[in-house]
Amino acid sequence: MSTLRHRTSRPYDESEEAGPLREAMVRDLRDLGALDTDEVIAAFLAVPRHLFAKDEPLETVYAANTPLVTKKNSEGQAISSVSAAHIQATMLEQAEIKPGMRVLEIGSGGYNAALLAELVGDSGQVTSVDIDPDIVARAQQCLTAAGYDEVNVVLADAEGGVAEHAPYDRVIVTVGAWDIPPVWIEQLSTDGQIVVPFRFRGLTRSVAFGRQDARLVSRDYRLCGFVPMQGAGEHTERLIRLDGDDVVLRTDENGPFDEDLLRAALHGPKVERWSGVVFDQVDQLDLWLGTSIPVFGLLKATKAAIEKGPVGRSALLPVPTSVREGSFAYRMKRPIEGTDEFETGVYAHGPDAEALVEEYVELIRTWDREHRDGSRARIEVFSAGTPDDKLPHGRLVDKKHTRVVITWP
Ligand SMILES: C[S@@+](CC[C@H](N)C(=O)[O-])C[C@H]1O[C@@H](n2cnc3c(N)ncnc32)[C@H](O)[C@@H]1O
Repeated sequence: MSTLRHRTSRPYDESEEAGPLREAMVRDLRDLGALDTDEVIAAFLAVPRHLFAKDEPLETVYAANTPLVTKKNSEGQAISSVSAAHIQATMLEQAEIKPGMRVLEIGSGGYNAALLAELVGDSGQVTSVDIDPDIVARAQQCLTAAGYDEVNVVLADAEGGVAEHAPYDRVIVTVGAWDIPPVWIEQLSTDGQIVVPFRFRGLTRSVAFGRQDARLVSRDYRLCGFVPMQGAGEHTERLIRLDGDDVVLRTDENGPFDEDLLRAALHGPKVERWSGVVFDQVDQLDLWLGTSIPVFGLLKATKAAIEKGPVGRSALLPVPTSVREGSFAYRMKRPIEGTDEFETGVYAHGPDAEALVEEYVELIRTWDREHRDGSRARIEVFSAGTPDDKLPHGRLVDKKHTRVVITWP
């Protein structure tokens, strides 16, 4: 286990309750599979998380799965938080940080930067950048109070990276990113890695990318959710309201769509097909669907809309949806009698419903045959100027700065 830098000389009074709660959080994170290595476990045991969220009850601070919101926008949406310990642990394990490394954290809350400071040790360096002056001031204050004032806290839009402390062995992005600005790669050491909550086709995965010259290649990815990027890298998806705000199709594509036909289709007849495939490993299945469906969106409905019909219950959470002009199809599940398992199926609406439902069910069966058993997607990020004939064959997603290709073995 690595030496804890602050274990013997913490400049704060540990409350009696905080220590046991922190140990319990670490046990929970291990049980959930988020914490694994001795080094990351030691960092979580060392850093007093409650000093980074002083207004929250200790039980909330030390819950494994609860983000601690530090700022909301005028519509009441969270735009800054100390992230849930579970996702912080997952990303730090993905990042494989070693003593002596130089790390850039994009998005500050203070706590994660302190964990990073523990991991890099005295010979390393942590820089944390945030676009919001209130958050920068808050993070700096908390880091000082907890004894981590050697962390560089910088106010800037991370779209430009932070040149003054580059190069970095690791860039850890702690805010949802739709694209990878070229400077993040340029400011990375030649064998560096970026861990980023990366959004493609509306799906977000925490992807650990290794650098190979000017390109990034995924080594690992995990399901995650994050507050969205602000500033120059902000990106909004298209919302197609099929029934006011109650049934919404979110998509990052230009079509072909016919919004009026899609709205009419929702209230027309429904086609239903069941695949015979057990419903599990949903994040892997959804990534496969997100890679394979030609025109992709995510359908989500409110509880009230689902009770009213005809949208199926699965759409309480965003479900992968195949769209073709005025028709759409999305995945569903139903219990398998006599078991505690579910079967995966598809509902479709619109003039092309029959064709869409057949194609969708076939994709589910292909995933079951070829990819259920641990086969993982490869996500590669090329610069925007890369010609088509230099890209691998796979699902191409063009972004402002990059061309992303997702392939399956
Ligand atoms: C989830 S919080 C960061 C959590 C933090 N790493 C922690 O200790 O848990 C995301 C932060 O990203 C910041 N952010 C959003 N867009 C940004 C940008 N373009 N550049 C830098 N920071 C940004 C927000 O202000 C917010 O504070």
